[in-house]
Amino acid sequence: MVVAFVVAHAWENRIQAPREYSNECSICHHGGHGQVSEIAPIFGRVGPIAQTPAGHHYLVDVLLYGLDGSITAGGAHYNNSMPSFHRLSDDEIARILTFVASQEMPSGAPTFTAADIAAGRAHPMSATDVLQERQKLDLQTPVQ
Ligand code: HEC
Repeated sequence: MVVAFVVAHAWENRIQAPREYSNECSICHHGGHGQVSEIAPIFGRVGPIAQTPAGHHYLVDVLLYGLDGSITAGGAHYNNSMPSFHRLSDDEIARILTFVASQEMPSGAPTFTAADIAAGRAHPMSATDVLQERQKLDLQTPVQ
């Protein structure tokens, strides 16, 4: 019974996550590579960023609180605004981040749980605070 549930759950995530990415994110990030000088690319970048605890934490904050201001990503400069996805459930955000982290990172991709997202909700912040968190992160582990 438990095994059937776990398998069904994994299967559900595999079909649900790409659909959720497409509904919520692709309007801006397109196929995951954004748009040069307009929207930062995320496929192939989120997995490596999520590998450190500070990077993992940062990504949860981007989804919950947005990101506003000047950044360098994938060798290009961006100065735009990412909206908050606070309205989505912990499960939805965890599924979407896990899906995005696994793109172009076939093995050993970090994962996100609903508990990670719930922990992020416990410390409200602004999109500008998230920019500062990124700047600090970038000094420890360059965000490329
Ligand atoms: C309305 C447009 C828009 C939507 C929708 C959107 N994003 Fe973003 N996202 C952006 C912009 C713009 C940036 C870069 C912000 C900046 O330039 O400061 C960004 C940045 C990011 C970053 C940080 C990248 C980095 O280098 O630090 C991640 C991660 C991210 N988005 C993931 C997502 C995910 C996952 C979704 C879907 C749930 C999503 N975004 C939906 C516009 C959007």
